[in-house]
Amino acid sequence: MKKGLFTLFMIAITALTFVAVGALTAADVPDEVTIENEGYKKDKKGAVKLSHKKHSTEYKVACTECHHEYKDSKNIWKEGNPVKKCSECHDSLKKEGKVKKLQNAYHRNCKNCHKALEGKKAPFKKCNDCHEKKSK
Ligand code: HEC
Ligand code: HEC
Ligand code: HEC
Ligand code: HEC
Repeated sequence: MKKGLFTLFMIAITALTFVAVGALTAADVPDEVTIENEGYKKDKKGAVKLSHKKHSTEYKVACTECHHEYKDSKNIWKEGNPVKKCSECHDSLKKEGKVKKLQNAYHRNCKNCHKALEGKKAPFKKCNDCHEKKSK
């Protein structure tokens, strides 16, 4: 009897752990991301809001279109791996070999995809379709 109860208890704990871990993973992936890095030579433009969740669910853009970690020129980053800030590898002031400057990395990533889309409905020309107006 005692043993049976213990087993039941362990099953319950295990189940709860799975629920908690599942919830945590979902919550780690933000619905919206505000991109506003510091360290640029001049901060000319306002912040950019990315509808992060919409891009993966509605627009069906794979995580690996934006997130990467290269090894021997191959992207080895997989969904579920920790995500580093773009700025951890892309310097805001200078290009390092093949690693583009931060502003260029963002522009190339966002604009190139948008430009190639059929109908060209996503922004790539008008700055303020992505950038918020600067308050100061
Ligand atoms: C598809 C979206 C998109 C469009 C369109 C776009 N940008 Fe950006 N831009 C970004 C993102 C994302 C960043 C990174 C923001 C950050 O790190 O603060 C950025 C960064 C910048 C930066 C460096 C950061 C700063 O605030 O000074 C400048 C300058 C800039 N953009 C200028 C422009 C100009 C000029 C245009 C229009 C010709 C433009 N951008 C259009 C997405 C866009
Ligand atoms: C359209 C491009 C794009 C897609 C698609 C995308 N992300 Fe992101 N994600 C970003 C950007 C940009 C950031 C902000 C990075 C920064 O601030 O340097 C970010 C941030 C994150 C963060 C938060 C990191 C932190 O610092 O808090 C996580 C976690 C994440 N993404 C996971 C995912 C997963 C998982 C998927 C696929 C289901 C995904 N992303 C799809 C562009 C994208
Ligand atoms: C762990 C380091 C790392 C992180 C984090 C990272 N990058 Fe990169 N990125 C690289 C390296 C290294 C390359 C060069 C790969 C090559 O050409 O071999 C690169 C290349 C690129 C390219 C160039 C592709 C081309 O056409 O040449 C773009 C665009 C880019 N990154 C955007 C981003 C964006 C946006 C983020 C954040 C969502 C990001 N990167 C995060 C390391 C990183
Ligand atoms: C691989 C493709 C791809 C990449 C990379 C990408 N987008 Fe998009 N984006 C889309 C698609 C698809 C749409 C929806 C277009 C439509 O309405 O038909 C979209 C729409 C948008 C819109 C307008 C609608 C909305 O959801 O707000 C904004 C703003 C936007 N993207 C910002 C960004 C920014 C900022 C980045 C870079 C950090 C980025 N996107 C990277 C594919 C992409």
